[in-house]
Amino acid sequence: MEKESKELNAGYNKWISTGLPYVHLKIAQSLDGRIATKTGNSKWITDKTARMEVHRMRRIYDAVLIGSGTVFADDPSLSVRSVAGRDPVRIILDSRCRIGRDYKVVNDGNRTILVTGKNSKPAGVRDLLTTNVEILQVEETGNRLDLKQMLRELGKREIGSLLVEGGGTVFTSFLKLNLWDTLSVFIAPLIIGKGKEAVGELGISSLPDSIRFVDSSFRQVGNQILFEGKRKKSKDGEDGNVYRIN
Ligand SMILES: NC(=O)c1ccc[n+]([C@@H]2O[C@H](COP(=O)([O-])OP(=O)(O)OC[C@H]3O[C@@H](n4cnc5c(N)ncnc54)[C@H](OP(=O)(O)O)[C@@H]3O)[C@@H](O)[C@H]2O)c1
Repeated sequence: MEKESKELNAGYNKWISTGLPYVHLKIAQSLDGRIATKTGNSKWITDKTARMEVHRMRRIYDAVLIGSGTVFADDPSLSVRSVAGRDPVRIILDSRCRIGRDYKVVNDGNRTILVTGKNSKPAGVRDLLTTNVEILQVEETGNRLDLKQMLRELGKREIGSLLVEGGGTVFTSFLKLNLWDTLSVFIAPLIIGKGKEAVGELGISSLPDSIRFVDSSFRQVGNQILFEGKRKKSKDGEDGNVYRIN
């Protein structure tokens, strides 16, 4: 049962062998692939049953990551509620250190690691240092934080597993850079039309280059269909290449 036992310890195995956290992307979307309306309203796309399932996911991850766009739109606490379990550490991508003390991830007392650019304004950083927030400064490439470097640094801080909860810009970056291990998509029975897309530009123009999965499954959770699948590694097991089917 080698496969099954590896599966049970997938997060720990990855972290102990690579130093990088196991990365799980979780998306809640409408039938037409939207994660929010055009005004940024996403509460709630899914029903209570699906949201409960998300709380069960959160409690087994060391950390949960979101981008600044989601902090500004939703002001989430990312805690575990409705089920028993510990709260994960919050990881926030905020390259210009714009998130102030008004947001829950900064002021509710739980641990947060705010990832920001090496050139972030010292004033913003200093202001947050007096809260429960730890600052992690990484390089920036093309106005975006270097996620590979961030994952290495999180691994050093014993964050062995990471649940990425959005929004669309963040999902797109993780998918584009192949920095994920597993994906869960809750598909809810509603259509939003023009709105925030779950995944943006990936630079894929030919279908064989599209992202495909291994060990994929669909199951019903409340009123949603939950798709889950793992990233297929390239033949030589190397990360960092877009997977191509032959
Ligand atoms: N249904 C769902 O599953 C779900 C989940 C979460 C959010 N949402 C919705 O999604 C919307 C927010 O999504 P969004 O796309 O606007 O924002 P987002 O993905 O939450 O955050 C994107 C921001 O993160 C920062 N960032 C820094 N480095 C980055 C990198 N390497 N890759 C990506 N982002 C990086 C950038 O802002 P800085 O310049 O500040 O660094 C960027 O603009 C909201 O309406 C929210 O309600 C829906």
